[in-house]
Amino acid sequence: MSKTYDVAVLVGSLRKASITRKAALAAMAAAPSSLACKIVAIDLPLYNEDLEDAVPQSWRDFRQAIAASDAILFATPEYNRSLPGCVKNAIDVGSRPPGHNAWGGKPAGIISVTPYKLGGMAANLALRQALIFPNVPVMAQPEAYISGAADLFGDDGTVKNEDTAKFLGTYMTAFAAWIEKIAPGKP
Ligand code: FNR
Repeated sequence: MSKTYDVAVLVGSLRKASITRKAALAAMAAAPSSLACKIVAIDLPLYNEDLEDAVPQSWRDFRQAIAASDAILFATPEYNRSLPGCVKNAIDVGSRPPGHNAWGGKPAGIISVTPYKLGGMAANLALRQALIFPNVPVMAQPEAYISGAADLFGDDGTVKNEDTAKFLGTYMTAFAAWIEKIAPGKP
């Protein structure tokens, strides 16, 4: 019997009209049926160790959602040639308290998105670095750097450009294979 993998999709922009969110929806729609993708919100209070004494409910929910998922798909914009603070904060929140790293060993994919020309490459690579210590095996190939994204997606994640639709299909199929190879404790 084939297995369905639960994929937590993290969108690295908090704004309502986020292009990255549209790209994430498009990637989710392009996923093979072996993946059950769900956006997990990352609107979390900034990490502060003092809060571990009375853990905010949003941190609890987030940690639980990551721990319960089989894999993670990050869709991120680029801020000042790096990853947005909300994404780094989510990684920090999910990695704590010590001994309870929710990320450990979960296969991940990264799609960087920008309305400009360089595909959010610096954010993509900075995010890979931030995932090393939490022990997240990120798919190396194919890479996903989406440029000129303001004109590529409808609000519901429909893709307006045939090449982009085809690429997302290829990417998500490769991601499913990566998950199948890496996912801990799965047949
Ligand atoms: C940006 N933007 C941006 N774009 C880029 O390609 N490289 C960059 O280094 C930056 N830096 C940057 C910093 C800050 C603080 C902001 C707010 C924006 C532009 C960014 O790509 C654009 O605003 C996207 O639309 C953001 O993604 P969402 O919110 O549409 O998903």
